[in-house]
Amino acid sequence: MCGIIGYIGEEKASPLLLNGLRRMEYRGYDSAGMCVLHGDRMYVKKGAGKVDEINAKHNFITLEGTVGIAHTRWATHGQVNETNAHPHLSCNGEIAVVHNGIIENHQELRKLLLEEGHRFTSETDTEVIAHLLERGYRSGFDVRLSLLETVKMLKGAFAIVALFRANPDVIAGARKDAPLAVGFGKNENFLASDVLAFVGRTDKVVFLDNYEVVFVRKRGLEFLTFDGTPVVKTPVQVAWEIGDVTRKEFRHYTIKEIHEQPDTVERAIYQDRDKLESFCKIVRDSAKIYVTASGTSYHSGLIAKYLLAKYAKIPCEVTLASEFSSLNGLIDERSVILAISQSGETADVLHAIAAAKRSRAKVLSIVNVVGSSLVRESDLGLLMNCGPEIGVAATKSFTAQVALINLIVAKLSNGNLVESHLKSIVLRVQQVLRNEEHIIEISKQYSENPDFYFVGRGIHYPVSLEGALKLKELSYIHAEGMAAGELKHGTLALIDRGTPVVVINPEDDTYDDTLTNAAEMKARGAKIIGISTKISDIYDEFVRIPEGHESTYPILEVIPLQMLAYYITVERQQNPDYPRNLAKSVTVK
Ligand code: G6P
Repeated sequence: MCGIIGYIGEEKASPLLLNGLRRMEYRGYDSAGMCVLHGDRMYVKKGAGKVDEINAKHNFITLEGTVGIAHTRWATHGQVNETNAHPHLSCNGEIAVVHNGIIENHQELRKLLLEEGHRFTSETDTEVIAHLLERGYRSGFDVRLSLLETVKMLKGAFAIVALFRANPDVIAGARKDAPLAVGFGKNENFLASDVLAFVGRTDKVVFLDNYEVVFVRKRGLEFLTFDGTPVVKTPVQVAWEIGDVTRKEFRHYTIKEIHEQPDTVERAIYQDRDKLESFCKIVRDSAKIYVTASGTSYHSGLIAKYLLAKYAKIPCEVTLASEFSSLNGLIDERSVILAISQSGETADVLHAIAAAKRSRAKVLSIVNVVGSSLVRESDLGLLMNCGPEIGVAATKSFTAQVALINLIVAKLSNGNLVESHLKSIVLRVQQVLRNEEHIIEISKQYSENPDFYFVGRGIHYPVSLEGALKLKELSYIHAEGMAAGELKHGTLALIDRGTPVVVINPEDDTYDDTLTNAAEMKARGAKIIGISTKISDIYDEFVRIPEGHESTYPILEVIPLQMLAYYITVERQQNPDYPRNLAKSVTVK
C-alpha cells in the first residue's frame, strides 16, 4: 500500500525516482509525487492519477538535483487529489516527507501542532510527520534527533523517508510495521518500500527491522534503533532477475503472469531439501497447526487443509489473518502457525503472527518476496520463487503456493502422496493454457452478465472462491464462490434464466455429486460453464483440463478461471492490472 523511494548520489535523481515509481505503482496508484533538492531549494511535483498520467502533465524529469524522494499513493486518509498526494512539506517548506502506513494518533498530533501554530494543507495523516520533524528541527535538533523524537510520538504503522532542505547530504528513513529497504550502490544509495524500485542499479540490500531508523548518505549509511542505539546491519544480495518486470509481448502484467505459470510452478517445487525437511519436522513436532493468510493466499490455505487431512492425516485450522484474534486463548508453545503470503507484508498476516509469537508458537511461512517482513519474522520460511508479481490480482503466486503445499504434504504423508505426482505438472499447466482462445470466446458471451457463481466441492471449493475473487477484483462483476452442496440452502433462489455458473468438476470423488448440483441449476435456467476432465451434456460451455493427480487439480482448474476474469475485464475495456480501489500489498489493517 503506497510505495516510497528516496535517492542520494551523483546522478540526476528524477529519472531514477520516476523509474522507481513506475515499478512500485502496483502498491498504490491513485496519486503520485516527487520532491527533489536542487541548489538550496526543494522542488515538488505531484498529482492525482497514475504515474504516467501525472508525468505527462508535470514531466518529473525536468527536476534537477541529485537527491530526492517520491511516492505512489493508495489513499487511507483524505481524498484522492493533488493536495493529499505525497510528498508533504512542513510549514516552512524546509522538510519533505513520504510515508507508507497509517498514523493512528494523527488527529491528536494535528491538534497539538495546530495549537503550536503549525499550518496544515492536506487532510492526510502523513502531514503531521513533516510538522513534527520541523518542530524538532526548529528547537535546535539536528536531522538525527528530529527523526528520533518524531518517531517516538507516532502510533500506528509507518515507513517514512524524509528530506531536509538544509541538509542535502542525507535522506532519513524510519520503519515500524511497514517495509523499508536500503539499496546501496557505488557513490549512491536508495531507500524504498520494495527492492524492485532500485534493483536495476544495485543488488546489495539491507532491510530495516521494526523500530529502526537510517540516515543515508551518498557514501555511507547509519542505522540506529528508535532509542538511538547504533545497529550494525549486513547487506544481503538479491537476485538481479527479480528486477525483470517488463511486460514482454503481453498487453498486461496479469496475462503475462498467467502465462508464466508453467515456469513458476516448476520453480516453486524446486526447494532446498534440508530446509524442506526442517520445515516438515516443525509441523510433525507440533500439537496443532493453524494456517493463516488473506485474500488469494487464504484460498491456498484452505487447499492445504484438505490435502493435509487427506494425505498426511494432520488436522489444521485455517483462519483469515484479519480474524486471527478468534483463536485467542488456543495458541500456545506447542502450536505452529503457517502463514501464507505472496508479499510477506500484508499487515493482517504480520499482526496475526506477532500475536502467535507472543503466545510462544512457532511460525512457518510460505512467501514469495525475498527479504519481506514475514520471511524475517518466521522461524522458518519457504520461498515460492515465482518472481515479482505485478498484476494486483494474484495469479502465478496462487499456483506456486498450491504446488509448494503439495510438495510439503507429500513429505508429511508417509508415502500416501508421493512427490512424483508433481512430475508432469509443467506439461499439464501448458496444456491448460492452450484453452485461451476458447476462453476468449466464452468471455465475449458472458462479459455483460451482472452476476456469476462459481461452485466446487471438497478441494475444488477453495478454487471456486478464488475464481469468484478474480472476477470481482478485475471486472467488478458481482461473483460468489460456493461449496456446491450449499447451493440448495439458499443461493439457488438467485439462479435465474441465463445466470452463468462455473462448475469446477474434474473426475474425482466429488464428480457425481457436483454434476447433480450442476443439473439442478441448469433445470432452473442457469448457463453452466464446466471446468472438467470429462465433457457432459449438462455443460453449456466446456473447458477441458488434463487428467492428473487429484491433489494438483486446483492448479489446473484455476488457470481457466484466471483467464476468464482477465478476458472479461478486457472485453469490458477496463485495465486488469490496476483494479479500482485495490492494491497489491495491503500494509494497513
Ligand atoms: C491484496 C491483494 C490480493 C492478495 C491479498 C493477500 O488484497 O490485492 O491479491 O491475495 O492482498 O496478499 P498476500 O501478499 O499476503 O498474499
